[in-house]
Amino acid sequence: MVAQSPFIAIFITKQNFVLAKQIKFQYFCQLFRTKKKKRNIMLIKELKKDLYYVGVNDRKTHLFENMWPIPQGVSYNSYVIVDEKTALFDTVEIASSGMFIKKVLNVLDGRKLDYLIVNHMEPDHGGSIEIIRRYFPDVTIVGNKKTFGMLEGYFGITDNLYEVKEGDTLSLGEHMLNFFMAPMVHWPEVMVTYDSTNKVLFSADAFGTFGTIDGGILDTELDLIKYEGEMRRYYASIVGKYGNPVQKALQKLSPVDISMICSLHGPVWTKDIERVVGLYDKWSRYEHEEEGVVIAYGSMYGNTEEMAERVARALSIYGVKKIVLHDVSKSDASYILSDIFRYNGLIVASPTYCNELYPGVKSLLDKLQTRAVKNKVFSFFGSFSWADASSKNFVKFAEDMKWEVVGEPFAEKMTLGDEKTQMAEELGKAMAEAVKK
Ligand SMILES: Cc1cc2nc3c(=O)[nH]c(=O)nc-3n(C[C@H](O)[C@H](O)[C@H](O)COP(=O)(O)O)c2cc1C
Ligand SMILES: [Fe+2]
Ligand SMILES: [Fe+2]
Repeated sequence: MVAQSPFIAIFITKQNFVLAKQIKFQYFCQLFRTKKKKRNIMLIKELKKDLYYVGVNDRKTHLFENMWPIPQGVSYNSYVIVDEKTALFDTVEIASSGMFIKKVLNVLDGRKLDYLIVNHMEPDHGGSIEIIRRYFPDVTIVGNKKTFGMLEGYFGITDNLYEVKEGDTLSLGEHMLNFFMAPMVHWPEVMVTYDSTNKVLFSADAFGTFGTIDGGILDTELDLIKYEGEMRRYYASIVGKYGNPVQKALQKLSPVDISMICSLHGPVWTKDIERVVGLYDKWSRYEHEEEGVVIAYGSMYGNTEEMAERVARALSIYGVKKIVLHDVSKSDASYILSDIFRYNGLIVASPTYCNELYPGVKSLLDKLQTRAVKNKVFSFFGSFSWADASSKNFVKFAEDMKWEVVGEPFAEKMTLGDEKTQMAEELGKAMAEAVKK
């Protein structure tokens, strides 16, 4: 008896523990259901017939992908169609799942979820798939072969799957979904879904932007100034490497009649579709938006910076209006990349540092190489104190990128003298002439 008691106690405790865990989860699930039985019509926005927004804003995260600053936040968009069948289009980053589930339950208003369409598996969208499955254990997940490989890899999910291929359709009742594969429009499993009844494109990351959507959801409800720079910065940082896949996707979708784009980040595009598609087309062809010159320089003690100022002054004197100087140690790379995508001219400058390029400059060049940036009117200059190494690194970089070099690059030994001052001005002049061609 004495010997058995502790055993029973442990047994019961273990059972209780499992039970407690289940109850806790069920309680968590019930929280929103019981509290909000009535549908909160005010907060539900019907974007188009039967189509609702259930995405969330993230103003807490400092760095997207733990790398790119998002001072204006980001939204993880998700949508529901309520038809004879119900469908959810992508989920949200897991840290925002509480608010997300609340919205989904509110929109479904007691109905079950029939389909979860997974256009993109990256965790900023796929992060809440497992939670959705817990709330709706019978939900059928719609994706392609690559989606399913990732579903298994991330969540161990292998059942209740419905595989779609290029051109397949799925009827929700009134709404007909059409699937188009868009591999490497960020990740290999990416697809986009077109609701031909509503003429709505669920475009995954494409046409997305940094910046939360505050209050409004549609482009017609928002002040779009906030997104002008942020959309380009999102493209340059996140999608910039995938110019060719974006081009392929744009060509594939060009015959499709689209009246609304539901991207996974930022505003829902309606009146601005042409402008936004035009920008993605331009960026993915590595074409500049405007004539202008970015000077990205590294400088520890001001010598290289002084040269950069001289070059910038010459650019101005010879008629360039859009000139942006970035100190690579201060400007985050995403802002520099964004300006490089925007303007046609690029000058990079670096001191020699331990027989190499200055680390910040090296890192920027590496990012340009990763993105296989094309069509730049390029030049460079540098400084050193005993043995110039920046020049030869720049020459190699230009060769690797297959970029032509404009003017006569130079490197000053120690402080800036008359000859190199003259060369800096000549370089500015040559660049000014080249960007205006
Ligand atoms: C940490 C450090 C490493 C350097 N390494 C080299 C080098 O390997 N070769 C060289 O010629 N100069 C080297 N220099 C000298 C700088 O390239 C030179 O002072 C340059 O003008 C600095 O430009 P800044 O004033 O724009 O920082 C080095 C300087 C520092 C501070
Ligand atoms: Fe993505
Ligand atoms: Fe994303």
